[in-house]
Amino acid sequence: MKPFVYVTRKVPDEIYERLADKYNVEMWTEEDKAVPRSILLEKAAKADALLTVISDAVDEVLFSQAGQLKVVANMAVGFDNIDLEAASRHGVSICNTPDVLTDTTADLTFALLLATARRMMEAAEFVKDGEWTSWAPMMLVGTDVHHKKIGIVGMGKIGTAVAKRAAGFDMEILYHNRNRHEVAEEMLGAQYCTFDELLAEADFVVCLAPLNQDTRGLFQREHFQKMKNDAIFINASRGPIINEQALIEALTAGEIAAAGLDVFDKEPINADHPFLTMKNVVALPHIGSASKETRMAMMGTCCDNIEAVFEGRHPKTLVNKDVLQF
Ligand code: GLV
Repeated sequence: MKPFVYVTRKVPDEIYERLADKYNVEMWTEEDKAVPRSILLEKAAKADALLTVISDAVDEVLFSQAGQLKVVANMAVGFDNIDLEAASRHGVSICNTPDVLTDTTADLTFALLLATARRMMEAAEFVKDGEWTSWAPMMLVGTDVHHKKIGIVGMGKIGTAVAKRAAGFDMEILYHNRNRHEVAEEMLGAQYCTFDELLAEADFVVCLAPLNQDTRGLFQREHFQKMKNDAIFINASRGPIINEQALIEALTAGEIAAAGLDVFDKEPINADHPFLTMKNVVALPHIGSASKETRMAMMGTCCDNIEAVFEGRHPKTLVNKDVLQF
């Protein structure tokens, strides 16, 4: 009997075929809707492997019903949608897709920073709406990025890749992280700061930390109040790291100047979300890793991991290494 692999979102034919060559594969095929929880649970109950995305909650309820599940290949570097402790207890290997998305996500993060600072979305709307009737000295002026101070919260691989891009813009680089990053300090001149120092000094505060119990709700109103009034806040990691209401209040009160957001507390955001009426907010639909090359590489990594488990090898990007003891 071939292992049963359930894929929770429609993937391109070549990925489907790669899996279908070796396994019994089923896939959720509705393009504009995530797999309903009831179907995910029903399929997981029979699955040997799941290929999941970040909107799938992979939790104790799922594991307790999924008696033959061996591996969950999550198509993301983040794995906050998965209960790792429960996975290890149930003997399920959890894999993610680091490395292949680092530069692509850093590109998007820096593009979001530039777009927010230079009011690019507003300017594009202005042209599309036919409002561009003349050239004026102070029309749609934004703020400079080059030679400013960037403060990166979370100096992992993506944070470091953003720092490299910032160095190319002659920015002064501040960072806050659990551990010092000697390589970034030596190669890019990055300066380690406390969280409060970074908030007080940076012109651009860029959140790239993973979501976990230490970072959930890390940014509260008081933290936005510590930033400069002309600071720009960028979030390209996970929405729940910030108190979204606090950010709305800080932007409304003029405590910070603008925000560029690729991630939100609850995704997707509704059409009546307050961010969507704020001119100084650039909101993107969680597209950090969304280049064709990178998304194909991420799905390739998921296939590699599933194959490794069924071929008795350790998956290359296993997250819950303690599963090996079970
Ligand atoms: C996307 O958000 C990811 O974690 O890869």
